[in-house]
Amino acid sequence: MVMQNNTNDTTHADLIHLRGVPFGATSEVARKSSYNLSKLESLAYNIARKLQEGKIKSIGLNGPLGAGKTTFVQLLARALGYKGSVTSPTFTLSNEYQCPQNILVHFDLYRVNKSDRDVLEMIKESLLSERWVVLEWSDRMMSINKKLDLILNFRHGKSADERIIEEQNG
Ligand SMILES: Nc1ncnc2c1ncn2[C@@H]1O[C@H](COP(=O)(O)OP(=O)(O)OP(=O)(O)O)[C@@H](O)[C@H]1O
Ligand SMILES: [Mg+2]
Repeated sequence: MVMQNNTNDTTHADLIHLRGVPFGATSEVARKSSYNLSKLESLAYNIARKLQEGKIKSIGLNGPLGAGKTTFVQLLARALGYKGSVTSPTFTLSNEYQCPQNILVHFDLYRVNKSDRDVLEMIKESLLSERWVVLEWSDRMMSINKKLDLILNFRHGKSADERIIEEQNG
């Protein structure tokens, strides 16, 4: 077998080929980039636009503790025009943020029992509704994770304010 080298600027590590329809218009890749908080805000605005235009409806956020998942939801809600405060649901399964155009439902699956059928049903119901849905730790429930339109995989970067985020269509 002949191995080919990439000839453009993008390294092999930045391009992960995926099955299915790609997120974004260009090619079948998961895009991976470095983000400081201001770049993360721009990403939140771009993704907010996709929600508002109806191109996507559900987003999973994965990655270790402190990787920036809740921070992203805060920026996303603000980008969608929500003026209130955004914290991860702790005593309830989900929080709802009434944005001018639609409701954003925020789940955090970190503490839920993965095999709780009621929880699973509630999430599925949200995904079937008209509301926008964002789930932290969506990969704890694989049956849910694979139903999502977009998944952002976060990891820590080299410096305290850097995160590496891979965008992947579900
Ligand atoms: N580039 C960045 N992206 C996201 N968060 C950043 C970045 N730089 C610094 N931070 C900080 O890192 C922290 C991320 O915490 P956050 O609660 O968003 O993580 P999390 O992934 O939701 O964690 P958990 O799994 O515990 O809920 C925040 O204090 C945030 O300000
Ligand atoms: Mg969080």
